Amino acid sequence: MIDLLSRRLLFVTGKGGVGKTTVAAALGLLAAEQGKRTLVCEVEPKGDLSVAYECGSTPFHGREVSARLTAMSMDTEASLREYLKMIARVPVIGRIGPVAKAFDLVATAAPGVREILTIGKLCFEVRERHYDLVVVDASSTGQVVGQLAAPTGINELVRVGLVRNQTDWMLDILRDRQVTGAVIVTTPEEMPVSEAVDLASRLERETPVGLACVIANRVLPELFSTREELVFDKLSSPRMTTQLAQEAGLDGAAIRSVFASARLAVTIRRDGVAHLDRLRAGIEDSVPLLYLPYLFGRAHGLRAIRQVARSLGEEM
Ligand SMILES: Nc1ncnc2c1ncn2[C@@H]1O[C@H](COP(=O)(O)OP(=O)(O)O)[C@@H](O)[C@H]1O
Ligand SMILES: [Mg+2]
Repeated sequence: MIDLLSRRLLFVTGKGGVGKTTVAAALGLLAAEQGKRTLVCEVEPKGDLSVAYECGSTPFHGREVSARLTAMSMDTEASLREYLKMIARVPVIGRIGPVAKAFDLVATAAPGVREILTIGKLCFEVRERHYDLVVVDASSTGQVVGQLAAPTGINELVRVGLVRNQTDWMLDILRDRQVTGAVIVTTPEEMPVSEAVDLASRLERETPVGLACVIANRVLPELFSTREELVFDKLSSPRMTTQLAQEAGLDGAAIRSVFASARLAVTIRRDGVAHLDRLRAGIEDSVPLLYLPYLFGRAHGLRAIRQVARSLGEEM
């Protein structure tokens, strides 16, 4: 049993296009179905989360997608406004104008401010217990380390005062392995696996967040058993395909092309297995590795997310 959903804050990351949004949306659905009040937050507001849930836009203040499930998109300016209103008790009325200016100034002046506003908002939702679980559809490999390391960086930069107090509580949340975890999504391919292995060690070395699990997405099913493969090898010989063509009155080239396609699928699957072995060897033994099958047919939208949620549920 992997108690991924007993945590309170999960960052789903990995190489672009591997299935982060799909997995984050599915984890959110699964948690809500298990009775948890769940927030799923898309850090890069591209609108992919709203496509996944088929729910229309997912604003900063959140949209209720289904029972106990809320979806939102990060907006660092809105996060700053919320923060100012709450902590500094500065009333911010109407459209941002001056705040945007101040924000740009601060953001360019101090590295890590944008990141802090992102991580801060997420940690705040956890601290205030607005939700039982916050699932983050986080940035990809390139940026996530910087984002997660930002509170540590700021802390080291500012050793006293207001800012220090602000990052201390965030670090308490991020460092606690029972509370926070990263989920790396990858696919059984060369580059995604190399990036996943690299990211796993960078997370441990450079950020306060621990690796909760790795998910191999789009794993192809085994097409043939060993016995079936013997049959396949025999049938696909040139002599057999010619004979089949003659007996069935079919085009020999078409038959050979069908066999070649099946051969390709077998080869891809086999390569994938080798990459998955490399993945398993490249991450700590204590980190669980889950598998999600390749979805044939329509792979986006709520039906696909439900299917992925079901597979994840079976893996956990
Ligand atoms: N298990 C799967 N089987 C088939 N297609 C998938 C699977 N998971 C994701 N996809 C597809 O792969 C593409 C990228 O997925 P997405 O979740 O948007 O990745 P990311 O957020 O990492 O960029 C999407 O078109 C999605 O529908
Ligand atoms: Mg995405």
